[in-house]
Amino acid sequence: MQGSATHPCLMSVRDLLPPSSDQFREDVLHGLRLPEKELPCKYFYDARGSQLFEQICDLDEYYLTRTELAIMDRHAGEMADVFGRKCLLIEYGSGSSIKTRLLLDHLKEPVAYVPIDISREHLTESALNLAEQYPQLKIMPLCADFANLPSLPANGKSARKAVYFPGSTIGNFTRDEAIGLLRQTARLCGLGGRLLLGADLKKDPRVLEAAYNDDKGVTAAFNLNLLVRINRELEGDFPIDRFWHHAFYNPTQGRIEIYLISQVAQRVRVAGEVFQFSEGEPIRTEYSYKYSIDGLREMAAAAGFEVKHGWTDDRNNFLVLYLAVRF
Ligand code: TRP
Repeated sequence: MQGSATHPCLMSVRDLLPPSSDQFREDVLHGLRLPEKELPCKYFYDARGSQLFEQICDLDEYYLTRTELAIMDRHAGEMADVFGRKCLLIEYGSGSSIKTRLLLDHLKEPVAYVPIDISREHLTESALNLAEQYPQLKIMPLCADFANLPSLPANGKSARKAVYFPGSTIGNFTRDEAIGLLRQTARLCGLGGRLLLGADLKKDPRVLEAAYNDDKGVTAAFNLNLLVRINRELEGDFPIDRFWHHAFYNPTQGRIEIYLISQVAQRVRVAGEVFQFSEGEPIRTEYSYKYSIDGLREMAAAAGFEVKHGWTDDRNNFLVLYLAVRF
């Protein structure tokens, strides 16, 4: 892999995604054929979806991003210390790498930074911005679904691996999936591997529900954008204004559940196949699990990690955990 003339330390984007439309079509059709319809949340993040998500992160109601940023701002020095000198920093779902900058400002001689994101446009643009701000840093962007990583870049193999997984994106996986993902991470990192994990904590359901039902309707637009994407990329004919965004906290499961609800009985065509919706029928688009510290500790242990340390905010709204591979 070669750097560019203007940014010698910025490698070209390595692409591990399968030909996008094939997998997307297969996953969407599979989800819509289920008796309880669902769509995988990773497909939210096309170019428009990634933009809308950035707007969500700035909303008053969406306390997660600013709380996590404040924790990072306060403790990035300690976090960088536990990662140690000359680590290979890997990030799952890097987006704009805003929080990562706080880490990068403190890390000692990182061997390279590997931002992984499913949105190619967003990844390319963010990597370029980062290269301008950190000209000495070797950046190796990877366009991939981080939940499905066969391997890590070869030229960093001997360095200590440090995975940064912020945003409580872990919460978008069910417990079993999350344990599987953490286990994969432990395996990829190997002995001495470290993980910095951002996780949203259980709290007043009204606060949780507001975060997924903002006043300006940005979250609704983000959710509905998945149908816009299906219409554009899979010859769909979803009438966007005939679906509602619906999000609520399920305390028994400890998660926010997010749906698109058909306002009327209707037929929708996607990639040549017809799907019947009854009035009020939901499509589940996402879960967002909220954790207790004990719950996180258990999950980490089940995946081969040991919790070494945690940093939280004054209100105990959000937690950043430092985990080490145990075997
Ligand atoms: N990882 C984010 C979360 O669980 C994703 C998210 C935020 C989201 N708001 C949303 C997903 C609204 C769907 C709809 O908090």
